[in-house]
Amino acid sequence: MHKNVVILGAGNVAYHITRALLENTINVVQIFNRTLDKAQNFSEDYNINYTDKISEIVKADIYIICTSDKAISEISYYVPFEDCLVVHTSGSIPLSALKGKYRKGIFYPLQTFSRKRALEYDKIPFFIEAENKEDENILLSLAKRISDEAYVVDSEKRLQIHMSGVWVNNFTNHLFYIANEICRNQDISFEILKPLIKETFEKINDDITPYDAQTGPAKRNDNIVIQKHLSILESDSNLYQLYSLLTNSILKTYHDKL
Ligand SMILES: NC(=O)c1ccc[n+]([C@@H]2O[C@H](COP(=O)([O-])OP(=O)(O)OC[C@H]3O[C@@H](n4cnc5c(N)ncnc54)[C@H](OP(=O)(O)O)[C@@H]3O)[C@@H](O)[C@H]2O)c1
Repeated sequence: MHKNVVILGAGNVAYHITRALLENTINVVQIFNRTLDKAQNFSEDYNINYTDKISEIVKADIYIICTSDKAISEISYYVPFEDCLVVHTSGSIPLSALKGKYRKGIFYPLQTFSRKRALEYDKIPFFIEAENKEDENILLSLAKRISDEAYVVDSEKRLQIHMSGVWVNNFTNHLFYIANEICRNQDISFEILKPLIKETFEKINDDITPYDAQTGPAKRNDNIVIQKHLSILESDSNLYQLYSLLTNSILKTYHDKL
């Protein structure tokens, strides 16, 4: 696959997509970003041309918009060419957000990207959408150069996938944060929870379904323990409500009661 790629944006996803493409010998010819030093920051490591000027955006086969969701439509006007494929990397923004006269597509990687974290790119599922079969195949080939997992899904399904990701990653991480705060306030090391966190994920990684993996007071319908926990949380209405909501959801799932 001999395609030249331009990356628009220089945040977490731009950094990792650029690395993943280069590691798989896809030619990234330029990084465009409104803040020049962020583009410069990693472009120089790979000897890639970079710019913050729309007038300097070079001709390429594929443009991958890796800006914040809110900026996708605006940035999509910046691509000054028509004979090219422009994609974005968001899980929740429809294809119609891309506004130019070029061909349009989606190149959504389902992973949490932080610049400082190394990732196994070949394990990241990519979700592809395009306006025609030919572009679908181009994007599938591009994704398969990076990863073993690439799928074609429409925008509605992608939104459901994105929301599932919010449940397993964003919400789970927020619960880690809450537990960390509770430990910190009680002078308890968060480290003691790490074997539990690890086993929680390893159970799911093995053949146990999330339904079967559940344990704890709500699963056991143990109202005495639930009330003890709620009494600790009485002074913090946010945590009290959150604990009650999650407990009620588990009770509803296993005991069909609220
Ligand atoms: N992070 C994830 O885990 C993840 C996973 C899958 C998909 N995605 C998707 O990937 C995309 C990028 O996410 P990210 O996490 O990489 O974002 P990020 O690290 O916050 O980077 C945001 C980028 O967007 C640019 N930007 C923001 N507002 C802009 C505007 N009004 N005009 C021009 N440029 C603007 C920023 O430019 P400056 O440097 O100038 O601020 C920066 O390059 C989003 O669509 C997101 O939904 C993210």
